[in-house]
Amino acid sequence: MIRKRTLRHFIVFVSVSGPICIVLFHQTSTRSFLKDSCMCNCAMDSEGRSWFSQRYKPSANVTLNRKNGLLDFHTYWWWKSLQNESVVANYTQVVEVMFSLFPDKDHYTDSSPSRCRTCAVVGNSGNLVGSRYGALIDSQDFVIRMNEGPTKGFERDVGSKTTHRVIYPESAVDMGVTTHLVLLPFKILDLQWLISIFTTKHIDLTYMYVKPSIIADRNMVMILHPAFIKYVYDSWLQGHGEYPSTGFISVIFALHVCDEVSVFGFGPTKDGVWDHYFEDFKSDPNEGPHDGDFEGKVISQLHQKHRIMLYKGW
Ligand SMILES: *[C@@H]1O[C@H](CO)[C@@H](O)[C@H](O)[C@H]1NC(C)=O
Ligand SMILES: *[C@@H]1O[C@H](CO)[C@@H](O)[C@H](O)[C@H]1NC(C)=O
Ligand SMILES: *[C@@H]1O[C@H](CO)[C@@H](O)[C@H](O)[C@H]1NC(C)=O
Repeated sequence: MIRKRTLRHFIVFVSVSGPICIVLFHQTSTRSFLKDSCMCNCAMDSEGRSWFSQRYKPSANVTLNRKNGLLDFHTYWWWKSLQNESVVANYTQVVEVMFSLFPDKDHYTDSSPSRCRTCAVVGNSGNLVGSRYGALIDSQDFVIRMNEGPTKGFERDVGSKTTHRVIYPESAVDMGVTTHLVLLPFKILDLQWLISIFTTKHIDLTYMYVKPSIIADRNMVMILHPAFIKYVYDSWLQGHGEYPSTGFISVIFALHVCDEVSVFGFGPTKDGVWDHYFEDFKSDPNEGPHDGDFEGKVISQLHQKHRIMLYKGW
């Protein structure tokens, strides 16, 4: 199979000379050795294309801003019913305050046939232990992690770069000033918490204790659109579970903002254990509000249809 990317690098390679071409050649060859399936804009067969296009909505509002912030009635009530919120603030007013603080724009609407942005979505599965995926993960343009998933001490297996971290108040951690804080909001209080951590720092309780402040840069903040969460649930999960997991949403987020998506740290270990690479933790993927089996099935299908590369760790 001739890959567009390899070809393009080859053209550059033969048309320039000196140290630059060595660098390019090196990058190309590293990529070709490490990856053996889908490169940017790769062709799906017609069955794959039709499966994909029944689910993927290119026009979906991915991140929230002032202009697209209005929610239609169904989206608002679906979203509001996800978590039990006893005191409900005025959504419109909260959105207004948010975008006086955070970048108010459409992120990543630069999609084009020539764009080739590569992304790694790194979950927290114990199947990363001993995988030595670190260098491969760090070689992607974006590295999207979620919740507390640490890198320090685990670099060889999970890499050290984090361009985006998807969190909600109850899962938030310090992320420094070079990582995009991507809020996954499940309720209006989550939006108020986001404002609070950069201003008054007064919110430290939702249904549990939450951090009243974290180390992050407010100019790097983006907020997933409630309508995006509903779209992932309706279109990709066809209503399975109560709502999609953070990991699953992150994969679909990557499909929308990247041209090539590699997925790491999802699913069980080779012994069938569902745990985390950084802590002793056993879980059942179907416990709680998510349908782990169905989510896993969709992720496998995306892999089989060459729309993502799934690295299982074994
Ligand atoms: C995105 O948001 C805008 C503004 O609210 C809305 O008009 C448009 O229909 C939304 N797009 C989709 C695909 O729902
Ligand atoms: C929702 O929260 C309120 C106030 O905290 C509580 O009284 C109520 O029992 C909760 N309902 C559910 C279904 O959890
Ligand atoms: C919320 O605030 C907006 C703008 O200030 C206002 O127009 C709207 O009526 C308020 N909604 C409710 C339910 O109070």
